[in-house]
Amino acid sequence: MAAEESAIRDFTNRVNDAAKLISEYALKDGFIHVVSHLDCDGLAAAGIIGKALWKLNARFRIRIQQWVDEEIVSDIVSDKPALTVLTDLGSGYLDILGKHLTDHKIVILDHHQPVGEATPDIFEVNPHLYEIDGSKDISGAGVAYFVAKALDDANKCLSCLAIVGALGDMQDKYEKRSLGGLNGKIVQDAIEAGCLKVEKDLMFFGRETRPIHKALARTTSPFLPGISGEEDKSWAFLKGLEIPVKIGDRWRALRDLSEEEKRRLCSALSDQLVSKGYAGNVLSLIGTVYVLVSEEPWTCLRDAREFSVLLNSTGRLEKAGLGVSICMGDRGEALELAGEVLAEYRRSITKYLSWLMEEPDRIEELESIYVIHGGDFINEKIIGTLSSILSTTLSRSNMKPVIAYATVGEEDVVKVSARTSGVLTSKGLDLGEVMREAAEEFDGNGGGHNIAAGAQVPSKDITSFIKLVDGMVKNWMEKIAVGS
Ligand code: C5P
Ligand code: C5P
Ligand code: ZN
Repeated sequence: MAAEESAIRDFTNRVNDAAKLISEYALKDGFIHVVSHLDCDGLAAAGIIGKALWKLNARFRIRIQQWVDEEIVSDIVSDKPALTVLTDLGSGYLDILGKHLTDHKIVILDHHQPVGEATPDIFEVNPHLYEIDGSKDISGAGVAYFVAKALDDANKCLSCLAIVGALGDMQDKYEKRSLGGLNGKIVQDAIEAGCLKVEKDLMFFGRETRPIHKALARTTSPFLPGISGEEDKSWAFLKGLEIPVKIGDRWRALRDLSEEEKRRLCSALSDQLVSKGYAGNVLSLIGTVYVLVSEEPWTCLRDAREFSVLLNSTGRLEKAGLGVSICMGDRGEALELAGEVLAEYRRSITKYLSWLMEEPDRIEELESIYVIHGGDFINEKIIGTLSSILSTTLSRSNMKPVIAYATVGEEDVVKVSARTSGVLTSKGLDLGEVMREAAEEFDGNGGGHNIAAGAQVPSKDITSFIKLVDGMVKNWMEKIAVGS
C-alpha cells in the first residue's frame, strides 16, 4: 500500500510540473499545438486539454491522428509552435519525436507503454513510469484530466470526459464492470462536482436512448440466449412479463422502467440464462452504470458508455473535429450530426462483419492466433473496433489472440490491430511488446497495451509479419505451459 501511495504521489508531482510548464507557455502567449489520438479516449483527452487551454486564454490548435510518423512530425515542425502537447499518444513514438523534433519543447500526456527514451526536451507524464497500470487504472483522458485539474481546480467539471475516455478504452475491469485505480479517484471528483451518478443496473446498451426491446436484443455482453440478436423474441419476452414497450406513442428506454419492473425483468432473464445453461452469465446482468447527470436525459451523452461509442464513431469516420467540439461543450446541431455519424458507423460495422463471414478464408485460425484479413475492403480506421468485437466472440472457446489488418488508403502500409483476453494478460502475455518486436523486424512501428495493441507494417511484409506473430505467441504459450 505504501508503495502504491508513493507511486501516486510521484505521478501527481509529475502532473503538477506538466501543468506548470503548460501554463508558463500559455501565459507567454506561445502557440500550443495539441496532437491527440483518434479514438474515444484520445478525443476526450483533446476535449479536456482544449477546454483547459481555452480557459487560460491560450492560443492553440488541436489535430487528431491515428499514429505519429515522420510526415506528422514534419507538419508539427512547419507550424512552429512554442509547445507541442501530445495526448493519448506519444510514449510509443519517443524515438521519432526525439529524432525529428530537436530544440522543440514537447509535453506527452499518455498511458501507453513507453518505447525508447525521452530526450531532455520531452516532458513525459505516463502512469507506467510509476508502475501504475495504464491499461486499466487510468486512460489518456485521465492523465489529461489530472493536468487540467492541476491547472485550475474548477476543471474538476471535466472529470466526466475522463470517465468517458476510460470507458471507451474498456478500462472498466474492476468489480461489476466498475472503474478503479486512478480512474476511481476521477469518479470521486465527478461525484463531488455534481456531474456524475454511479448506479448498479442492468447492463443493456442504449439504456438512455433505445426502446427497451431493441436494447435487450442488441445486448451481447452478457449473451442472452434466445434474445440477443432477436428483436421479435425480445419484444415477446417483455410482453410475457407485462412490461409495456411503449406508453402512448412513446417508446420506453431502460431508464423509464420502474424499480419493480427492472427487478421482474432481471429475475426472468436470470431464469432464462439458467434454463439455457448460461448460469455463469447471471452475475454479469447487473453492472456499474455511469450517468452524466448534467447531460439531457434521453440523449446518447447521458450514459457515459453510449457517449464513448458516439465519440469513437466520429473519430473513426473522419469526423474527429465534431467529436472534440462535443467534448468542448457543443450540443444542438453538432449532436444531431454526431447521431448521424453514429448510425453510419453502426452500418459500417454490420457491413464489414457480414463481409468477413461471407468467405471462410477472411477469418483464419492459425496455430496460436486468429487472423482477420481486412485487405483493402475494410476501412483501416475501423479495423480496431472490429478486432475488439471479434476477439470477444472468436476467442471465447480457445482464447487465441486476434490479429486484424487492413490496408491504409493508397499507401503501401497495413494497419494491424491486435486484441487478447484478460486471462492471457494475467498470465503475462503482452501484445504491445509482441507488436513492437514483430513490427521492428519489418521496419514498421508497433506497440500499445498488453490487452490491445497495434502496428503499422509495409504491405509486402504482412504475411511474414503474421507468421512471426503466430510463432511468438506460440512460444509464449509453450513457455507458460512448461511453467504451470
Ligand atoms: O490508444 P488507446 O489506449 O486509447 O486505445 C485502446 C484501444 O484498445 C481502444 O480502442 C479500446 O477499445 C481497445 N481495448 C480493447 N479491449 C480491452 C481494452 C482496450 O479492445 N480490453
Ligand atoms: O489501433 P488499435 O485500436 O488497434 O490500437 C490498439 C492500441 O495500440 C491503442 O492503444 C493504440 O494507441 C496502440 N498502438 C500503439 N502503437 C502502434 C499502433 C497502436 O501504441 N503502432
Ligand atoms: Zn487511450
